[in-house]
Amino acid sequence: MQEHNWLLRLENISAGYNGDTVLSDVSLQISDNDFMGVIGPNGGGKTTLLKVMLGLLTPFYGEVIFNRELLTPYNIGYLPQMSEGDISFPVSVRDIVMSGLMQSRGAMARMKRADRERSATVMKDLGIWHLRNRCLSELSGGELQRVYLGRALIGSPRLLLLDEPGNFVDSSFEQGFYDMLKELNKKMAVVMVSHDVGTISAYVKSFACVNGKLHYHDSGRITNDQLKDYGCPIQLIAHGDIPHTVLQKHIDGDINI
Ligand SMILES: Nc1ncnc2c1ncn2[C@@H]1O[C@H](COP(=O)(O)OP(=O)(O)O)[C@@H](O)[C@H]1O
Ligand SMILES: [Mg+2]
Repeated sequence: MQEHNWLLRLENISAGYNGDTVLSDVSLQISDNDFMGVIGPNGGGKTTLLKVMLGLLTPFYGEVIFNRELLTPYNIGYLPQMSEGDISFPVSVRDIVMSGLMQSRGAMARMKRADRERSATVMKDLGIWHLRNRCLSELSGGELQRVYLGRALIGSPRLLLLDEPGNFVDSSFEQGFYDMLKELNKKMAVVMVSHDVGTISAYVKSFACVNGKLHYHDSGRITNDQLKDYGCPIQLIAHGDIPHTVLQKHIDGDINI
């Protein structure tokens, strides 16, 4: 069996905001061919976990360790969690895709010809080249998602972090999107937060259940009983061929949904 290199390690992380702990004693390793689904109830700390990996949030305790030969904070691609309100500002598709390079160059850096060529390649690969001069507010949910994915991919990341990408997608688009991620996973590790355990279990290789603590599950298949054992109040329900998930009320903790 092929050996896989580790990219990033979280060791005994506790993190939160204003002194309040959201994640406690979280340890996790990301390897270079991982495709990990991150699941858990609302407010459980999934987005917080990604922010710790990105260095956007400094943990109270513990360490974030990069395998610097393979990964630096600059070659992580990040698709943030979006909501309807985020799409109204008057910037073009091309600007948003190019902004993915500013993280490593600094906002004032002049974009070089090679950068413009790279952005053209990314937009063509994602099928959004014809939209390049459009404003974000003129796009459909699926198109918008591709634009943000373009921004996450333009720096050729080794690790791609996706925070609830399914929220924005019309269902006709969904399968193509996950197939595209599967293709990208040949070149980079993918960590994807999702509510839809049923759908993503067809794609992911492992799960991390996050509900204050993190439970790692080294398989793309997960059962209701395992979710219960992990303290993840999510239930898998199968309706014919289409699996659905619902969130249950969290009983024994301090999170109510
Ligand atoms: N910037 C912030 N300041 C204070 N509290 C926050 C902030 N961001 C998130 N939280 C709180 O941290 C907890 C975990 O949030 P989050 O990581 O966004 O959960 P999830 O992504 O699993 O829904 C929630 O209780 C949330 O209200
Ligand atoms: Mg979140």
